[in-house]
Amino acid sequence: MALLFSPPLLLALVFLTAEVTLTTGSKKCAARNFGHDSVVCECNSTYCDSVGSVSLPPLGQYSSYLSSMAGSRLEPGQGQVQVNSSGAGLRLTVNSFQKYQKIRGFGGAMTDAAAINILSLSAAAQDQLLQQYFSSEGIGYSVVRVPMGSCDFSTRLYTYADTPEDYNLDNFTLAPEDINMKIPLLQRAQAFSPHPLSLLASAWSAPAWMKTNGVLIGKGSLKGHPGGKNHKTWAQYYIRFLEEYASYNLTFWALTTGNEPSAGRMTNYSFQALGFTPEEQRDWVALDLGPALHASSYPHTHVLLMDDVRLLLPYWAKVVLSDVHAGRYIHGVAVHWYMDRVVPADISLGVTHHLYPEYYLFGTEACAGWNPLDRGVKLGSWDRAEQYAHDIIEDLNQYVVGWTDWNLALDQTGGPNWVKNFVDSPVIVDAKRDVFYKQPSFYSMAHFSKFLLEGSQRVGVSPSRATELEYSAFIRPDGSVALIVLNRSPLVIQFEVWDPAVGYISSSAPAHSLLTLAWNTH
Ligand SMILES: *[C@@H]1O[C@H](CO)[C@@H](O)[C@H](O)[C@H]1NC(C)=O
Ligand SMILES: *[C@@H]1O[C@H](CO)[C@@H](O)[C@H](O)[C@H]1NC(C)=O
Ligand SMILES: *[C@@H]1O[C@H](CO)[C@@H](O)[C@H](O)[C@H]1NC(C)=O
Ligand SMILES: *[C@@H]1O[C@H](CO)[C@@H](O)[C@H](O)[C@H]1NC(C)=O
Ligand SMILES: *[C@@H]1O[C@H](CO)[C@@H](O)[C@H](O)[C@H]1NC(C)=O
Repeated sequence: MALLFSPPLLLALVFLTAEVTLTTGSKKCAARNFGHDSVVCECNSTYCDSVGSVSLPPLGQYSSYLSSMAGSRLEPGQGQVQVNSSGAGLRLTVNSFQKYQKIRGFGGAMTDAAAINILSLSAAAQDQLLQQYFSSEGIGYSVVRVPMGSCDFSTRLYTYADTPEDYNLDNFTLAPEDINMKIPLLQRAQAFSPHPLSLLASAWSAPAWMKTNGVLIGKGSLKGHPGGKNHKTWAQYYIRFLEEYASYNLTFWALTTGNEPSAGRMTNYSFQALGFTPEEQRDWVALDLGPALHASSYPHTHVLLMDDVRLLLPYWAKVVLSDVHAGRYIHGVAVHWYMDRVVPADISLGVTHHLYPEYYLFGTEACAGWNPLDRGVKLGSWDRAEQYAHDIIEDLNQYVVGWTDWNLALDQTGGPNWVKNFVDSPVIVDAKRDVFYKQPSFYSMAHFSKFLLEGSQRVGVSPSRATELEYSAFIRPDGSVALIVLNRSPLVIQFEVWDPAVGYISSSAPAHSLLTLAWNTH
């Protein structure tokens, strides 16, 4: 609650110093160091750090929020917009007339593992955790990805239709994981959120009896061909899923054509997978999924193709979207962040956007600690926070409209995961102590999710000279501007922002820091 100061007091403070840090009323990070390069913030049933909900100061002033390796966590500040340039060497000019994509939202995934971990806390700590993610006092997540059936972050293998040859899906039934864990948590998350959540569904595997390999894992695809009975039933499975969740008042904004389809074809996952070639995906959408959805009670559900690494772009999108029969049922392209370091964003995301500007790009999965060389949970890793912020900025600057983290919460080993594919999460739960740790990556998400409300539109930013700073700027739906600046260098970088509509903001990005600056324009 940083902004409870009355306007006269605020003005007085601003008058006294060019930049004041407002801390009264906001709850500070209860920092803990686990021996990595930075700290986590510990939360329990009665305490969790928060800056409260954001409301910007009047025209002529700006707000800033800073997180850093040195230990700042969304530290609020405020200052005066200047009439004249400070003459700082580096100037970032905001070009509000250069308009790009509009934001849909940010979020994470309600996997079985996430649900198990959240529910391992006391009821009050569960609420605290959900509020941290979904309330406007928290970081305002608006997107939740929901796995359909089991994935590696489950404790057992199941689908919703495991009765062999059940082509009518007579025995389709949600799992106890849905009914007892994910659905109640999604309902609670929705209740904390000021806006309807954008739910996104992805399936990992079809039932074994529909598949060429007869099991949920490894290399295998649907038996037969698009238009055939397995492909038709697999499309109906999605509709049944939407119907079942709707009976709990959970309506999906979008679904993907299936998690990581390249895995079930090219690689041999040790966990749930369903292979599609882009051609098979194209024909399945055109012949089965698209018509089934169109004829269902949920014809407005968005369909996102691919749901896999951007390495496959633009090729995969070209195969599917150049076909009008498939393309008319598709709304966007879903991308995962794995291997982003070796695939430039412009030649994958940028090229896809320019080829198919009427389809949006959406980030559906990312996590740290997946790489065998840097595995599992690292409590307090600022390096991983930078990996997130770098990737988000790069994606946003290449037309992506949203970015979805993977598991909303994991335990200290980075699970549970039935194949021990342990990774990291922005929230790590220690059930024994009834606490959870907010990792530096939680704040990376916050610097975007808390400020870039749905409908925010990216605008141009041009630097006066080469800089190591990474940045992206947006006009929010209320007309205010938010600029996110990442400094991954070990040096403080002084800069000023020029928004011709309001003036100059002189600022500085500490070493290894992430900064959100925001100001009203009228
Ligand atoms: C919760 O955390 C706060 C701040 O760290 C601490 O003062 C309080 O004692 C903790 N409460 C419990 C129940 O552990
Ligand atoms: C801004 O610069 C102009 C021209 O250099 C000068 O006349 C004016 O006094 C300056 N205003 C402020 C508020 O410093
Ligand atoms: C499947 O559903 C049918 C009809 O609803 C029922 O008779 C049968 O017992 C179910 N089979 C299984 C394996 O659940
Ligand atoms: C269903 O959810 C919406 C928000 O998505 C809420 O406004 C409405 O009250 C809910 N209805 C019931 C019956 O819970
Ligand atoms: C896939 O990997 C499993 C072990 O996880 C192995 O048993 C199987 O033979 C492999 N299949 C192929 C097609 O490589």
